[in-house]
Amino acid sequence: MALTSVDLTPRIGSEVKLDKAALLGGAHAAEIRKLLVTRGALVFRGLNLSDEELRTVARSLGDLRIGSAKRAADGKVLNEGEEGVLKVSLDPKVNPEYARFLFGNLLWHMDGTYEPVPPFATLFTPTRLSQEGGDTMFASTYAAYEDLPKDEQERLATLRVVHTMQAALFPAKRDCTPEEFAVWSSYPQRVHPLVWQHKSGRRSLVLSTSGAWVEGMHAAESHDLLQRLMAHATQDKYTYRHKWQPGDLAIWDNTGCMHRAMPFEAGSKREFHRCTLNGEEPVTAPKQAAEAVA
Ligand code: OGA
Ligand code: MN
Repeated sequence: MALTSVDLTPRIGSEVKLDKAALLGGAHAAEIRKLLVTRGALVFRGLNLSDEELRTVARSLGDLRIGSAKRAADGKVLNEGEEGVLKVSLDPKVNPEYARFLFGNLLWHMDGTYEPVPPFATLFTPTRLSQEGGDTMFASTYAAYEDLPKDEQERLATLRVVHTMQAALFPAKRDCTPEEFAVWSSYPQRVHPLVWQHKSGRRSLVLSTSGAWVEGMHAAESHDLLQRLMAHATQDKYTYRHKWQPGDLAIWDNTGCMHRAMPFEAGSKREFHRCTLNGEEPVTAPKQAAEAVA
């Protein structure tokens, strides 16, 4: 069966039409990967994938991350779920560890900016939807970069940003306890270039709520710059808002997109199953990329 796709907005998001057997067969994997990097976020309707099927699709597209609670405790890497499928829920009974961090998903972010090589992509399918709200939004940081004036693109390409978990989580929970803040602070900081020259040839802004400050810049200037870029990158024209239906699958390119959950009712049993594909290239500034080729 041939794969077809329909753009959901001009700059980000496509609905892919492919039947389940064809998707699971893997023959379209290269085409899907290409579309993912071109369109940032892909959605499929009516698939109703089991965990095993979700893993199969994930493995056809990249290097499926297999987490373990032990690695999470020792290595300061969030538990990505046993056997590669993470349960995303605010209910501590469903996933006690993850529920401690998940409220941060309500703010615009990239996943895994604390890691040396951020994840390439995420596959996300609902097992239970909220009564109200709970859409997921995606913002193309490729498109946001491409629309900046040339001189600003060049200036930003020289900057690096320090990413911290406190920066990501404190704005989402200002009434946190000192103990919670101390846990967040115990995660390593990570510095990434602000502009990513991808191997694909595209460039994107590396923005996320985790972006705490611009290295070596005056604090007020750094704050204003990151705020301004975040406002720029999340304008309607760069975003797609997905209204979930049971059976959907969304896949996003975590290297060229931010995403966020929209608010949903307290006490909701909203739950998604998620596979993460490991990163395939470190965040590389345009100059570094040029030097590597020379
Ligand atoms: C995530 C995430 C958004 C959502 O799982 O990384 O940000 O809508 N999820 O739950
Ligand atoms: Mn996320």
